[in-house]
Amino acid sequence: MSRFALELLDAFHDRRNFESGLESIDRYLRETARGHTDKGVSLTRVLVHADAAPPKPVLGYFTLTPCMVEAAGWPEVPKALPRNPVGAVLLGRLGVATGMQGAGIGSRLLSLARRISHDSLTSTGGIGLVVDAATDHLVVFYERYGFVRISPDSLRLFLPARSLV
Ligand SMILES: CC(C)(COP(=O)(O)OP(=O)(O)OC[C@H]1O[C@@H](n2cnc3c(N)ncnc32)[C@H](O)[C@@H]1OP(=O)(O)O)[C@@H](O)C(=O)NCCC(=O)NCCS
Repeated sequence: MSRFALELLDAFHDRRNFESGLESIDRYLRETARGHTDKGVSLTRVLVHADAAPPKPVLGYFTLTPCMVEAAGWPEVPKALPRNPVGAVLLGRLGVATGMQGAGIGSRLLSLARRISHDSLTSTGGIGLVVDAATDHLVVFYERYGFVRISPDSLRLFLPARSLV
């Protein structure tokens, strides 16, 4: 990624002016992501212009966190999975600034999130990457990248560890 840099969210990023068009995504970055990142609850990474000066405008971001899922019976999971919860990574948030949407940033962020999740899962174990699509329309976005719905009427999607990179 030449013109852009992916950085852990920090004080020198301008999170106040970020707008993706989805209130829950904007509010999380403005109000919650920094505290969660500092405390290790989840990690938010932001995409910025490589040569941006503080406060650096946020072009897009994503949040990852470890999670436990009851995945027996989901499509694409290993056979005979335990019935109790097993480890995975949750893509908790993904957003691109309105002025940058439609230019491939979302796709790039997703691919970076997959790579980081792959590294995490190969270090600690875990069955794959989970995401909760905000709407039915967004299910299509994730399906383009190989995610599968865990059931036909669910907004939760799953990408198995073997398909992350
Ligand atoms: C959804 C979102 C992250 C996509 O980011 P983006 O930078 O606009 O996406 P890209 O330019 O990388 O598009 C990649 C592909 O996905 C498609 N796509 C983009 N947004 C889509 C959507 N909402 N639904 C379905 N497909 C979508 C694009 O058409 C593109 O397809 P193409 O390669 O055939 O042209 C961005 O629109 C966004 O931040 N939306 C508001 C917040 C949000 O909804 N977050 C997700 C919550 S689950």
